[in-house]
Amino acid sequence: MDKLVIKGGKKLAGEVRISGSKNASLPIFVATILAPGLNRIGNVPFLRDINTTIKVLESLGAIIEGNGNLVKIDSAGIHNHEATYDLVKTMRASVLVLGPLLARFGKARVSLPGGCAIGARPINLHLKGLQALGAEINLEHGYVEAEAKRLKGARINFDISTVGGTEHLMMAAATAKGETVLENAAREPEIDDLAQVLNLMGAHIEGAGTDTIRIQGVNELSPVSYSVMPDRIEAGTFMIAAAITGGDVKILGMKPEHLDALIFKLQDAGVEITSRDNVVRVKAPRKLRSINIKTRPYPGFPTDMQAQFMALMCVADGASVISENIFENRFMHVSELLRFGADITTEGNSATVKGVKKLSGAPVMATDLRASASLILAGLAADNITEISRIYHLDRGYESIEKKLAGLGADIQRIKE
Ligand code: EPU
Repeated sequence: MDKLVIKGGKKLAGEVRISGSKNASLPIFVATILAPGLNRIGNVPFLRDINTTIKVLESLGAIIEGNGNLVKIDSAGIHNHEATYDLVKTMRASVLVLGPLLARFGKARVSLPGGCAIGARPINLHLKGLQALGAEINLEHGYVEAEAKRLKGARINFDISTVGGTEHLMMAAATAKGETVLENAAREPEIDDLAQVLNLMGAHIEGAGTDTIRIQGVNELSPVSYSVMPDRIEAGTFMIAAAITGGDVKILGMKPEHLDALIFKLQDAGVEITSRDNVVRVKAPRKLRSINIKTRPYPGFPTDMQAQFMALMCVADGASVISENIFENRFMHVSELLRFGADITTEGNSATVKGVKKLSGAPVMATDLRASASLILAGLAADNITEISRIYHLDRGYESIEKKLAGLGADIQRIKE
């Protein structure tokens, strides 16, 4: 297994370009099931989760060809309506094929994803929504079996804000008969990106990005060409990399409006942030201030930035309280950050981080995607050498992170083992 070796203490400087969004690409790939023919999806990041999605679609019968960041998905030949445990267990988002397969073939059989490192992550709201659209659903031998001759529009009110649930039902409702209204829908920018793709395919979706989404079902969708939005979490991670190393970095191709909550918090902490035409300059202050954060659904502070922000607060002046309100077990990076000499205590869903003068490099282990990013950030700020093992988590969601950081002057290397 590969590991990353970082010699900390370098101030990052220069320019870095943000890749396409992982969490937008995944549902967009899945949406091609609804549009038989040749779909061309651009600005796709090279990531393990993208490969897994490609494998899922290929297992259904799609023909897929990649050329740089352009992926051509010919979904005309999809004939299989079953996604197996092997594929769904490696990536939970694979479960999103259920609704589109059901919409296209009248039936689908998809493995139930198990729990995951950051929480139980049930899909009850996805299934309840599909039932409201008229699907008959049975759980048998670890699989969800769904049937419906044609889905019918319905009013669905989500108990809690769910990104995947909103995406799933938006796709399923796109070709249902009649109108569907999704209330208390999630508002993440990736949902708006998916709605844009579906509308280009011929769907009638209004209100994506707000908490009420209206979908007028159409009979069929056609293939599209589309370029995926930039990855806001990758962008946020580089912003913190600049701040934690005392650096001065220009981030190219990001959409700062997707990261308002993070930008306000970084500014409160003293970080200087200016933006012009999708170029954001992040300049670290002489002294970082401690700031409290609470993760919330968009437009609140993203849970996917919590671990990285915690790494930053480890070297800020004062004490910071960080509350995680989306996932029940998303503090696994804490015990690894302690290995750097950080001062963190947790109680329930809240962590108190007291800033220390200096972190000291250590061997640590990645536990999930965003936790891995927090360990890199700590390693960049720490003195001496940090070795991060189990970095396959990182390869799920950050395109060439070590090359991009090295381009900014970090001393970071991937060691193949
Ligand atoms: N939930 C339910 N029932 C459901 C669905 C969700 O109880 O049927 C709960 C979850 O357990 C969680 C909360 O609702 O406590 C929110 O989960 P959500 O459905 O919004 O998350 P998701 O769609 O599974 C996506 C991202 C995650 C990101 C979350 C929150 C993708 C592929 N994944 O997950 O990204 O953390 O939204 O913003 O889009 C990551 O990239 O590292 C990552 C984990």
